[in-house]
Amino acid sequence: MNIQENISLKAFNTFGIDATAKRFVSITSVYHLQELLKKEKNIFLISGGSNMLLTKNIEQLVVHLDCKGISIDKEDEDFVYLTVNSGENWHDFVLFCVEQNYGGVENLSLIPGNVGTCPIQNIGAYGVEVKNVITKVEAVEIASTKLHTFANKDCKFGYRNSIFKNEAKNKYAITSVSFKLTKQKHILNTSYGAIETELASKNITNPSLKEVSNAVIAIRKSKLPDPKKIGNSGSFFKNPVISKSHFLELQNQYPNIPSYIISEDEIKVPAGWLIETAGFKGKRFGNYGVHEKQALVLVNYGNATGKEIYALAQKIKETILNQFSIHLEIEVNII
Ligand code: EPU
Repeated sequence: MNIQENISLKAFNTFGIDATAKRFVSITSVYHLQELLKKEKNIFLISGGSNMLLTKNIEQLVVHLDCKGISIDKEDEDFVYLTVNSGENWHDFVLFCVEQNYGGVENLSLIPGNVGTCPIQNIGAYGVEVKNVITKVEAVEIASTKLHTFANKDCKFGYRNSIFKNEAKNKYAITSVSFKLTKQKHILNTSYGAIETELASKNITNPSLKEVSNAVIAIRKSKLPDPKKIGNSGSFFKNPVISKSHFLELQNQYPNIPSYIISEDEIKVPAGWLIETAGFKGKRFGNYGVHEKQALVLVNYGNATGKEIYALAQKIKETILNQFSIHLEIEVNII
């Protein structure tokens, strides 16, 4: 194990923030991780770095989880069961599944990050959440260095949420994720408006996994910035859920406010719409700003610091609270 000193983390976080790791090590096997954890407990884990905003340098030992490999555990006529090591790139895994005709993750195409972090925030897009296809998550407990298996229900998945953001936060290093995917009779989820429109524009009526994946890729490319070109972490805030009475008041004032019914008394409103209506969409403040095509995405145009982006997020939160009486919750991990 090669522990390096004073390493820039710019290439290890999709926001492209140039924070420094005092000490840094890349780990490529569960065994090495366990050996390391016997000696070092004060660690900071990083994998794809796709859901974090670094606002300071990291004093702890930064452990970059980089275990690779995809294995098929079993399969029958209808399903395939796979285990994927945490350092595999998420989108490469999706493309692999689409190529093999394994169904279930095609709507999650082009989401940045690695497989090991997909359960932490229960990544989701276009009507699908990764919790639908995860069977188990394996993780090394930092305190005991023992490998622990979380069955799907142990992960306590919710909207952009799981046990790994709560009770288990900073206590485990996820080493692999297992999935159950369809081999035939795929359950396609194309009801999301933008997917339907994209498929219709190509005259596709009975889409294959590849065609759904391509539609999602086209939609994402049209709205979301490519982190390789413009630093970002996807949606910076969660979509808030408000009471029906609160929604009806807002609707009086803003007749075009979009909404999704969650329950009899709960309505979800898109944070992107709130932020756009408050006038932030496309606003640039020097090195950072709000994406011009999707107001839910904060961007780093070059050399912004995490502190600057965090201050912008606070300003947006304050404005939304004053204008709509809604508390926006940050989705990204602030470090
Ligand atoms: N909207 C605006 N202005 C904007 C952005 C959105 O008015 O600048 C409106 C849209 O017109 C639409 C509604 O808000 O009526 C929803 O927009 P969109 O379909 O783009 O989805 P979203 O709710 O903003 C969520 C996820 C995304 C995911 C998309 C598609 C969250 C926090 N975000 O965004 O996830 O890709 O749905 O399913 O739930 C991520 O988590 O990083 C992420 C990108």
